[in-house]
Amino acid sequence: MAEKENKKTPDVQNWNSVEKVIFERRSVRKYRDKQVPENLIRRVLEAGRFAPSAGNCQPWKFIVLRDKEMINEMERDVIRLCKVFKFLMDWRRPGLIGKIAWLNAQVSIRLMPNKLHPIPFGAISLIADGKLGVFHGAPTIIFILKDRRGVGNPDLDCGICGQNMVLAAYSLGLSTCWIGFAILLAYGPKWKRRLGIGFPYELVEGICIGYPVGNPNGIIPRETHEIDWYEHGEKKTMF
Ligand SMILES: Cc1cc2nc3c(=O)[nH]c(=O)nc-3n(C[C@H](O)[C@H](O)[C@H](O)COP(=O)(O)O)c2cc1C
Repeated sequence: MAEKENKKTPDVQNWNSVEKVIFERRSVRKYRDKQVPENLIRRVLEAGRFAPSAGNCQPWKFIVLRDKEMINEMERDVIRLCKVFKFLMDWRRPGLIGKIAWLNAQVSIRLMPNKLHPIPFGAISLIADGKLGVFHGAPTIIFILKDRRGVGNPDLDCGICGQNMVLAAYSLGLSTCWIGFAILLAYGPKWKRRLGIGFPYELVEGICIGYPVGNPNGIIPRETHEIDWYEHGEKKTMF
């Protein structure tokens, strides 16, 4: 994990246009009620299509969702699931219920250590309590499905593909936010059936896209990470 107290803005002079996109893009959680033109979404998808992948397997498929009613219905379903997770695992409650929840959480954390890390668990509670949105009012969602037959690590390929799309979207004047909680939709049969998701595909992530309310993008300081640098027979440690 990064050292939280050691934050810096980008240490780069005279950025080029790609670096500007990388440094200024932020995850946006409030969108205008205005649909993104189809041609821009197609350009974003093209950026995904041209991502590198192990063995050039391109182990992905995209689902584009621009139907407000369906997005709202998904949002309600994710909130409902977050409430269930919170009920089963929120050990902060007093008495026996709290103890049972603690046991549930202990078992689940061991089974899903990344998914139930304190940060996503905190977000699940916020979503359940209506304090954090799921799709943030965005008019378009791109779901990335992974082809499980991809060589190596198809999840990683899908991440690279998504990052291409996120950066391309920002370069086109759009804002985005990755939606990890979208995978909750794959926990039951309803959305798998409605979206036609079946072998070899598996829902990996969602990315919401739209026009931001205000201007939330821009440079922020970020944690530095130790870098081991080997050169001329020496090891240097830098940040
Ligand atoms: C794989 C992935 C899943 C994420 N899931 C969510 C999510 O479900 N909801 C959300 O509001 N933000 C989500 N985020 C956004 C992160 O919180 C955000 O990238 C991080 O706080 C850094 O902020 P920045 O993107 O503005 O630099 C996700 C990001 C990634 C890469």
